[in-house]
Amino acid sequence: MDCSSRFVVQLFEERYGSACEPRVFRAPGRVNLIGEHTDYNLGFVMPMALDLACVTATAPAADGCLRVYSKNVEESREWPVAGIRLAKPARDWGDYAMGVARELVLAGYEVEPSNLLVYSTVPVGSGLSSSAAIEVSVALALLGGRPIEPLELARLCRRAENDFVGMPCGIMDQYISVFGREGAAVKIDCRSLEHQVTSLPPEAEFVAVNTMVKHELGGSAYRNRVAECAAAVASMRERYPRIGSLRDVSSEMLAEFEAVMDSVSMRRARHVVSEDERVEAFAAASRTGDLERMGALLVASHRSLQQDYEVSCQELDFLVDTALQIPGVYGARMTGGGFGGCTVIMVQPDSAIQFQAALSHAYQGRFDLTPEMYPCRPSPGAGEITAC
Ligand code: GLA
Repeated sequence: MDCSSRFVVQLFEERYGSACEPRVFRAPGRVNLIGEHTDYNLGFVMPMALDLACVTATAPAADGCLRVYSKNVEESREWPVAGIRLAKPARDWGDYAMGVARELVLAGYEVEPSNLLVYSTVPVGSGLSSSAAIEVSVALALLGGRPIEPLELARLCRRAENDFVGMPCGIMDQYISVFGREGAAVKIDCRSLEHQVTSLPPEAEFVAVNTMVKHELGGSAYRNRVAECAAAVASMRERYPRIGSLRDVSSEMLAEFEAVMDSVSMRRARHVVSEDERVEAFAAASRTGDLERMGALLVASHRSLQQDYEVSCQELDFLVDTALQIPGVYGARMTGGGFGGCTVIMVQPDSAIQFQAALSHAYQGRFDLTPEMYPCRPSPGAGEITAC
């Protein structure tokens, strides 16, 4: 049961009429607790799915077209289903929908003419994975209840983003949107594509705090980091031919390259290798309820992203540094790709309200922007929902 379903059905009927009762599918956004820029290096990540989600309503269409209306942008896109295989990206939000439609067709699933309405509560550009939420909910809507292996669904949506949207992202966002768990985080091994559901201590809450900025640099810097990691791997393979990705590199191995590897490659690799270690340590500390250790690992992750990986920005740094001064805060870091978007802050539940007011006041004073805050409630992964 989900009340967003009734709202979306209503919107659907206003748009397309009520002749045919739509089916409704939901896919969540996520907050990544730790393990940043490790997924495309085949390492570890530990996100949780959020109650912020994209909801897609769908019913058959009679005119041979796939039509998608976004309530958020109040725009519609349509394509004849016969042309899906050869579709080209338009470089706008519609590419997420068409990308998954095309991947479904390429994977042998027939896409029927249909009308879709999408409505998302995941803030765009916030680092909370609004794109995976739309991809996964649209894919489920286009499948219309036909079975698909969950891992196949996550991979297919990632291919849509890599091959059609043109963003060389890892698997984390699509994976957690599919495999999210109510009340828990999920530690994902991005090489084996297996996961462990990881409990979180009840004495801590996580709040995502939005800088409300998204610097243009984000997309190109992400591509550069992917390339820089590949270059670091290539240089290490001369000595260790069995290294396939930074996942295969330990801190000890990396230390051997200190004198020979260029400084940029060394710093990028050091972030990824140390971040993988932090994910393991964070998951262990979470299971035993070691709050201080968890907080310290979050801060170490941020410093590494700021100094070695260079994907932070002054707004993210300000939120992290200011949060760490506020009583009741265990730790804080940027979350997602970086260059804006959200921080994730771990705080004592009793202090959460007071902390939000103090942080908001300080950020407004510095940047003249009101940071949105989203309490992170670990939520289930994607699926069909029924109206309440
Ligand atoms: C974006 C990408 C993910 C991941 C993160 C950084 O969210 O979509 O695959 O690489 O950045 O951890």
